[in-house]
Amino acid sequence: METNNNLNPFSKITADKLKCVGEQYQTPLYVYDEALIKQRCKELNNLSAPYGKVIRYALKANTLAGILRIIDQAGLSFEASSLLEVLRAQHAGIAINKILLTSQETYDREGWQVLKPLLKQGLQLNLCSLKQLDDYSQNIQEPYPLSLRLHPGQGSGESASRNTGDAYACFGIHQRDLPAALQKIETAKLTVARIHMHIGSGGNPKLWLKHVDTQLKLIQEHFPAATILNLGGGLKEARMPEEKAADVHELFQEALKKVEAFYQKTGRQLIMEIEPGSWIMANSGYGLTKIMDIKSTGAYDFLVCDGGMDLNLRPLLYGARHPLYLVRANGERLFSPFWDAGDRDYVVNGCCCESGDSQTLNALGEIEPRRLKQPEVGDYCIIGGLGAYGSSMAASNYNSHLAPAEVLVKENGETVLLKRRQNLNHLCQNEILYDEFL
Ligand SMILES: Cc1ncc(COP(=O)(O)O)c(C=O)c1O
Repeated sequence: METNNNLNPFSKITADKLKCVGEQYQTPLYVYDEALIKQRCKELNNLSAPYGKVIRYALKANTLAGILRIIDQAGLSFEASSLLEVLRAQHAGIAINKILLTSQETYDREGWQVLKPLLKQGLQLNLCSLKQLDDYSQNIQEPYPLSLRLHPGQGSGESASRNTGDAYACFGIHQRDLPAALQKIETAKLTVARIHMHIGSGGNPKLWLKHVDTQLKLIQEHFPAATILNLGGGLKEARMPEEKAADVHELFQEALKKVEAFYQKTGRQLIMEIEPGSWIMANSGYGLTKIMDIKSTGAYDFLVCDGGMDLNLRPLLYGARHPLYLVRANGERLFSPFWDAGDRDYVVNGCCCESGDSQTLNALGEIEPRRLKQPEVGDYCIIGGLGAYGSSMAASNYNSHLAPAEVLVKENGETVLLKRRQNLNHLCQNEILYDEFL
């Protein structure tokens, strides 16, 4: 039992502070912890890599401009999953030559018109299919160093839908298509400088390491000009007290040993790249909700909060478990899964008209009540682990709910608004009223 008013062991933001932020900016609300974001970036910057390293933050985890600026200032580079994500990062002030674009997208003439000047400015393009390779060689004449995403053949993730490496995931060029890809590369006289694989999110670290061998073998056999080994993201962050985070330092050291052995064997020094999203951002963000109602069906007791799937879609999407904290309306911590024993089971719901709008679901979409303490209407229910894949993924406008404001708690304790709450006008502004057709 921790007697201070903190919510967990990794953040200095207290229950009382979150209550004040909730009062000032109105719930539901995303709140981020600058100190923890910076600490995570620093830990990654400290990883040793004698032949060079690039740490790319996976933009999809959280694409808010204010967050990107913190990560940029901490010296990280970026990984984008769509052309619009690249443009959004540019809008936030990120230099184009710090971004690697790895996408399932293919582009029409208009798309290439947007891409071409970006490539000139140093955007790096990671090609993920034979069609992308064809399109690239038809559209680009300049000898930019190329990057290839290869399908690992075997993947691992926290759930099947977060495994990007098995046969049912179509990310990257499958190794059965490698001969065709190599043929196209030779014909178009392209130079492959980077080989990339991403096995999934939050999966088995042993498999993550095994793919270092797979990649090195491919580089040795087929890519004599490759200088960069990109190992993807997916490093597991522990959101719940019973989870174990990936030991990034140890994993990187083990990967480095393989890269050193490769150098001894081939004389080739490879730059190492990783692209974590969750590991940097997950625990740096909270979803603040207020308990609006408390109900029971006899079988289950429900806390109905003013934010749910519109704040955090992950439980409904793949049964993800997030820590749920309870804070009294006066700012006192009532319950933290890290320190307090609960005494009553609750289903924690949002207020969308959807029975799956619950923060307490398992991977089958079934209700799995959480042992908490008994709160009152007006207390706060705070969803932890929501800095990554929270606001960037939520079903924010379902039931015409407004996307929440997003606030940063700075290292010195001050709060800054990073994004305003939507208003009714934002919901309707692109709609065309039927009358206008008449
Ligand atoms: C290519 C790629 N890189 C990096 C990431 C980031 O993964 P994580 O947030 O699990 O670190 C993802 C996530 O889907 C990805 O697809």
